[in-house]
Amino acid sequence: MNILTVVGARPQFIKMAPVSQELRKAHQEVVVHTGQHYDYEMNGIFFDELNIPRPDYNLGVGSGSHGWQTAEMLKGIEKVIIEEKPELVLVYGDTNSTLAGALAAVKLHIPVAHVEAGLRSFDRRMPEEINRVLTDHASTVLFAPTDTAVNNLKDEGIAHGVFNVGDVMVDALLNNIQIAEKKSHILEKLMLERKDYVLVTAHRAENTDSRENLEGIVNALLNADKKFVFPAHLRTVHALKNYGLYDTLKNAENVLLIEPVGYLDMLVLEKNAEYILTDSGGMQKEAYVLKVPCITMRTTTEWVETLQDGWNVLVGADTKKILNALNTFRPITETHKNRFGDGHASEKIRNVLETHKFTV
Ligand code: UD1
Ligand code: UDP
Repeated sequence: MNILTVVGARPQFIKMAPVSQELRKAHQEVVVHTGQHYDYEMNGIFFDELNIPRPDYNLGVGSGSHGWQTAEMLKGIEKVIIEEKPELVLVYGDTNSTLAGALAAVKLHIPVAHVEAGLRSFDRRMPEEINRVLTDHASTVLFAPTDTAVNNLKDEGIAHGVFNVGDVMVDALLNNIQIAEKKSHILEKLMLERKDYVLVTAHRAENTDSRENLEGIVNALLNADKKFVFPAHLRTVHALKNYGLYDTLKNAENVLLIEPVGYLDMLVLEKNAEYILTDSGGMQKEAYVLKVPCITMRTTTEWVETLQDGWNVLVGADTKKILNALNTFRPITETHKNRFGDGHASEKIRNVLETHKFTV
C-alpha cells in the first residue's frame, strides 16, 4: 500500500515513530512535514533520537495565525497528494497539521486514517477540539485509543471504520524507556534527586494567551515549597517575556527554567518526578503509564480515564488550587489499570489497514 503520512508538530513525531517503523515492514510511506514546528529542540531532535525517517517533503509553513497556517498547509499538502497519488493519508492527533492533512486528502477522495480519533474535551474554544472534530468527520478509518473515544464517536454518529487499537504513545514509551534510562544523563546534568522535583510543562493557548492564567501558574511555582524543572515550549517563553514574567521565573531559586528537552530526557524526567504539573495532552498519559501523579493545569481533559482512576486532577491555572494539589494530591494506587493499550497499537493499525478495503 502507498501511504502518505502528514506530521508537523512535536507530539506527532513521537506518535509516528512506532507506526512508521511497523508500516515500513511491508508498505511504502511518503512523509510530509508541514513545518509547523521547526526549531531543533521542537523538531529535529526527535527525528535524530527516534530514528524517524526523514520527511520526503517539508512544506516549511512555520508559525502564524490559525487560518493562515492551516491554509498554507492545505495548499502544500494538496500538491503533494496530487503528485504522489497515495492510497491512504495518515494523520495524527489534533493540530493544525492534522486538520490540513485530512481536509486536503478527503477533498481529493483519498481515504484518511486518523490516529488518536474520538478524543473530546467538549470545549470548542480549544483549537485542538475543532481540529479533532473536523478530522474525525473527514476520516474513513478512525483509530481510537480508548473505549471512551469509541463512544464519543458513536455519539456523533460515527460507527463505521472505528477501531480501538490502544494508544501509539504507549508503544513509543515502552519502546524507548529502557533506552532513555541508559542514554539520558539529564538528572545528573541538572543535579536532580529522584522524586525530589516536580516536572512542569505548559503551552496550551488558554494558559499562554492569557496573562492572568500564566501569572497564576508562575505564582504557584514561586510560592510552592518544591523544586521545579520547567522545560518551556517556545510559545511559553515568548508569552513569559511579553508579560514581563520571564526574569522572575528564570531567577527563582526553586525553578529550573530550561529549553525543551528531547524525548529520552523527557521520559527520564517524567519517570523520576514526584509530580508532573502540566497542560500537555501527551504528558497526562505518560504520567499515568509511568505511575507518576499528574496535576493538570486545565479545566477539562480528553484523557478522562486518568481522572477516573485517581491518578490525575484538574486545577486550571488557579494558584491556590495548584498549591493545594502539590501539597495534598495522592494517587489511588489500587485503581491503576492498563487504560491506554498494551503497547502494540502500531501492529494493530497495520493489521487493520491490511485486512480491510477503505474508500471515501
Ligand atoms: C501546537 C498544537 C498543539 C500541540 C502543540 C505541541 C495547534 C493548533 N496546536 O501548538 O495542539 O499541543 O503544537 O507542542 O496545532 N514556536 C517556535 N518554534 C517552533 C514552533 C513554535 O518558536 O519550532 C513558537 C512560535 O512563536 C509559534 C508558537 O510557538 O507562534 C506556537 O506554535 P504553533 O505550532 O502555532 O502552536 P503550538 O502552541 O506549538
Ligand atoms: N515532550 C518532549 N520534550 C519536551 C516536552 C514534551 O519530548 O520538552 C514530549 C512529551 O514527553 C510527549 C509529547 O512531547 O511525548 C507531548 O507533546 P506536547 O506537550 O508538546 O503536546 P500535546 O501532547 O499537549 O499535544
